Amino acid sequence: MKRNMISGFLVIAILFSLLLMNVYASEPDWSKIPETNIVLFQPGQTSWEFLTSDSHPGSIAVNEAKASCSDCHRGKEADLAIKSMTHREPTPIIGKEPLKVLSVKAAHDDTYAYFWFRWTSREPSIIRKYQVFDGKEWKGVGGVPRPENVKKGVPAQYEDRLNIMLDDTKLQSFTRNGCFITCHNDLRYMPNEAKKDDVKTHAYLGDKGIKKSDIRKYIPESRTKIDKTGGWSNVRPKEELENMKKEGLFAELLQWRANRTNPIGILDDGYVLEYRLFDSDGKFMEDNYDKDKKQPKYMFDASKTGMKSFPYDQVKNQKYYYISKDIAVPFDPNVEWKKGDAIPDPIIFTPKDNTSTSHGEWKDGSWTVVIKRKLNHGNPLEDKILKPGNIYSVGLALHDDNTTHRFHYVSLPMTIGFDNPKLDINIVKAR
Ligand code: HEC
Repeated sequence: MKRNMISGFLVIAILFSLLLMNVYASEPDWSKIPETNIVLFQPGQTSWEFLTSDSHPGSIAVNEAKASCSDCHRGKEADLAIKSMTHREPTPIIGKEPLKVLSVKAAHDDTYAYFWFRWTSREPSIIRKYQVFDGKEWKGVGGVPRPENVKKGVPAQYEDRLNIMLDDTKLQSFTRNGCFITCHNDLRYMPNEAKKDDVKTHAYLGDKGIKKSDIRKYIPESRTKIDKTGGWSNVRPKEELENMKKEGLFAELLQWRANRTNPIGILDDGYVLEYRLFDSDGKFMEDNYDKDKKQPKYMFDASKTGMKSFPYDQVKNQKYYYISKDIAVPFDPNVEWKKGDAIPDPIIFTPKDNTSTSHGEWKDGSWTVVIKRKLNHGNPLEDKILKPGNIYSVGLALHDDNTTHRFHYVSLPMTIGFDNPKLDINIVKAR
């Protein structure tokens, strides 16, 4: 009995020290890692259909797979930004700079890759959507980005984001053209935006299929045909899409979100194939609104946060500008709710597959974000497996200034790999 207790204690002690080692061994010394500056530009409505059309002087090379965007445009991002904003953006955001410099450092050990990013941002956009009590009922407020809101006279309220799109060069169109293969004329907020009812009645994408009501990123290979308006409805049969996944013909998409992932140190881990999809075990949020009861599903756990809700006019001063499952309890309709009481929506939580983590801090006009990603997630149908020695292609994007959709800064396609200074982003051995 006593012996059992001692060995039990030993096991716990060993496990605990392993856990501590893991936590403390987690981040490289960033001051020793070289920094690369990447120039991002606002692309406006620069779609795949435009880039492959006669209107784009590089289209022959793009269509015949003879050159990459970077071959022709690297070093001239400022020119691209100005041309895109002048020719391809019907509603530019006044005063928004056309370019943004993103500083990147990357390191690895035997299990993880670590990425460090820094960019300037005049204020952190961390406030998004809330359920607010108007004295009679709960109503969703915020969560709508610029410029649509500004036009309506409502202050824009959206989250900053950093996106990494990654491939292992299996998807050759991505290697040459980067994220541009995923941007089409029929996506939301693009010139031929698909109609909601048409999407909802589509056999595969709609109510009877994967239940979408708008069109987001997709890769051209997922469609049987694309014309100048796009090709959203021509989705390949499911079996073919499954085979594409097995062959690795998709792009991984990691998203750091200032409101919906950063507060609890997680990442939005997804991929782009016939749609922008979440990994199967990657779900990290759900609506905090019960449509039948017409009230939030959760409120703050007062024993942990000192409140059940906060006054909406104080939203900018809240430590808990988000709600996560560890600080929430089921909503109680019998509380005497007052006009202006607010509870964040959605509620966020750590996903089942929590192999990537992040932390970001806004200070003195800049965001610094660190992402830790397992080299091998063990899920090759939805994630790329990073292996020292291999070369990958990557596209980076940033949303700031309360924007979403096309109002982002994007990079030209780049190479990324391990311990090879010739690549655009070199992931150096940290220890
Ligand atoms: C073979 C060279 C070549 C390739 C490859 C190429 N382009 Fe171009 N692109 C040009 C030239 C030439 C122009 C016109 C001059 C300029 O704007 O620099 C142009 C113009 C543009 C413009 C400005 C469009 C406008 O409305 O004025 C954008 C944006 C652009 N390219 C993006 C891309 C992207 C993204 C890729 C990769 C998918 C790409 N290009 C591939 C040569 C190329």
